[in-house]
Amino acid sequence: MSPRKIIIDTDPGQDDAVAILLALASPDELDVLGITAVAGNVPLHLTQKNARIVCELAGKPDTLVFAGCDAPLSRKLVTAEHVHGKTGLDGPTLPDPTMPLQDQHAVDYIIETLRAEEQGTVTLCPLGPLTNIAVALQRAPDIADRIQEIVLMGGAYFEVGNITPTAEFNIYVDPEAAKVVFACGAPITVMPLDVTHKALVTAERNAAFRALGTPVGVAVAEMTDFFERFDKEKYGSAGAPLHDPCVSAYLIRPDLFTGRQINVEIETGSDLTLGMTVADWWGVTDRAPNATFMGDIDANGFFALLTERLGRL
Ligand code: BDR
Ligand code: CA
Repeated sequence: MSPRKIIIDTDPGQDDAVAILLALASPDELDVLGITAVAGNVPLHLTQKNARIVCELAGKPDTLVFAGCDAPLSRKLVTAEHVHGKTGLDGPTLPDPTMPLQDQHAVDYIIETLRAEEQGTVTLCPLGPLTNIAVALQRAPDIADRIQEIVLMGGAYFEVGNITPTAEFNIYVDPEAAKVVFACGAPITVMPLDVTHKALVTAERNAAFRALGTPVGVAVAEMTDFFERFDKEKYGSAGAPLHDPCVSAYLIRPDLFTGRQINVEIETGSDLTLGMTVADWWGVTDRAPNATFMGDIDANGFFALLTERLGRL
């Protein structure tokens, strides 16, 4: 089978970086057509730069990287330096990128690519706020039908929230964009906190990254060393949750995940619960399902896959 064509929409972020590395390490399964940066964890000028740093770390400087929206649809940008550090990629010391940033705007690239490629053959992989995807859908509604699938990291049901008591960061930053995406009609698969909080980098798992002994293995271990302090202090968890790599892993090994086809609506009206993913996990409404909402992960299988693939770079 030919590799699945994907566009990674991202706001790196250490966990975004690992998601990109996993995808780039898996050319038999995934053909990364392009990487589109969005403002999120840190402002756009850093996320687009970080995306290029990661491509160079992977030894894939020919990857196309585009810059997209620098602010949510109608709100002020909220960032997460408290988690990811000032650069967004704090931890390892990595060189500034020399590979170019593409001239085209990320939104134009997404639209053009979906129109140019055969219908139903391009999967979008959003790992940050959904601004770029929503703007593309608003500007070119015809692309909704052309998307094979949207596999995104965002939201929560049982875990509820990480940036507010009821909202997960990616959805909270641009809830209006999330609303557009969840209503677009394309097949959607969601990796919520319910899954990603089970993908924890324990000391043993981080030692396995470091033991690869390669620049990639060591950099991922150092990213995790930095990134984990937040979750350990805040939640007392066993290590850093690798949120975004769950998206890449799902595309390679969907059997590692289980979930339900349910209705998911986005709260945009309430100050108290802004950005909440109102997920009808128990099927208590008659609202039509619009997403496959994942609930569980084979964490050992996930880390075995990730470590093996990182070792290929
Ligand atoms: C999400 O928010 C970001 O901080 C991470 O990169 C991830 O995409 C987790 O809530
Ligand atoms: Ca992210």
